[in-house]
Amino acid sequence: MKAIEITSYGAPEVLRAVERPDPVAGTGELLIRVAASGVNRPDVLQRKGHYPVPPGASDLPGLEVAGEIVSGDAAALAEAGFKIGDRVCALVAGGGYAELCVAPVAQCLPVPKGWSDSEAASLPETFFTVWSNVFERGRLQKGETLLIQGGSSGIGVTAIQIAKALGATVIVTAGSDGKCEACKALGADHAINYRTSDFAEEAKKLTGGKGVDVILDMVAGDYVAREIECMAEDGRLVIIAVQGGVKSDFNAGLVLRKRLVITGSTLRPRPVAFKGAIAKALREKVWPLLESGAIKPVIHSTFVAGGEPSGAAQAHALMESNQHIGKIVLTW
Ligand SMILES: NC(=O)c1ccc[n+]([C@@H]2O[C@H](COP(=O)([O-])OP(=O)(O)OC[C@H]3O[C@@H](n4cnc5c(N)ncnc54)[C@H](OP(=O)(O)O)[C@@H]3O)[C@@H](O)[C@H]2O)c1
Repeated sequence: MKAIEITSYGAPEVLRAVERPDPVAGTGELLIRVAASGVNRPDVLQRKGHYPVPPGASDLPGLEVAGEIVSGDAAALAEAGFKIGDRVCALVAGGGYAELCVAPVAQCLPVPKGWSDSEAASLPETFFTVWSNVFERGRLQKGETLLIQGGSSGIGVTAIQIAKALGATVIVTAGSDGKCEACKALGADHAINYRTSDFAEEAKKLTGGKGVDVILDMVAGDYVAREIECMAEDGRLVIIAVQGGVKSDFNAGLVLRKRLVITGSTLRPRPVAFKGAIAKALREKVWPLLESGAIKPVIHSTFVAGGEPSGAAQAHALMESNQHIGKIVLTW
């Protein structure tokens, strides 16, 4: 098969199209002929050598794919209600930038009715992450307020749409007025340009002084102190990335007085059973929203994966330019 390899750690050009042996599905797994692969910021971190591959995972980048089932563990397929030829999208721990990809059956979901392969490939990584962090760890409820740092990211556009569809008020931050407008067009109630306004002051004003109930934070660093200031009593801060640094200096007294919960997680190293449980919840609670049109794909650009220079390299360069709104996808 053709695949995109990280030939050495470095700039996007280290991503090169190569030939690799076809992978083989083992127990509980299926093999997908990949039509499209989603690109995520963790792929960029992996390419730079900052995101180690979990034990047992493919060294190839790529955490999500969509395509057709070509073979697999018959018993696991039957139990999940899949058959050869079905179109699925899958969350994988690596190996997504390839024409063929093995996935645990438990981490596969049907391509939502009416969605293309490219659109479906944009789903798993952000939908699993947002469900697990905002709705499970963060326990966001209907009627509560969610603050999303980085509303125009792949993660952000997913969080805006699910939270709105399930009845929350959504405030986002983004780095330009254009990105703020795009977030509002997706349903965000309020958007704060974090380069020109203090998000904590704005969030307090927007909630009438009460503060926000849940924060999805992909920045951390010095954001944490300001987040704690603008959280409501019994608020939950969920950290999923540390783009602003790992160290924070915050007022611990506020954590006690407001009874705050500070938590976080990384999805990739979690076991199949954990990811399978998220897949079940998504299929029940979110897939109907994708099929009804309540939640729409937000794809900024699509690149052909192979070629010279590789479309994957162009996709990574775009992601690092931070010009995108929503998802970037590779096609095969
Ligand atoms: N923990 C997990 O399980 C998990 C899983 C998947 C992804 N992640 C992380 O989640 C983040 C988003 O991933 P993605 O694939 O959606 O990436 P992405 O589309 O490239 O988004 C990165 C976002 O970070 C925003 N950002 C950077 N600095 C900011 C700041 N100071 N304030 C507010 N926003 C800021 C950028 O906003 P502007 O461009 O507007 O500045 C951009 O929207 C990444 O850091 C990724 O590593 C974590």
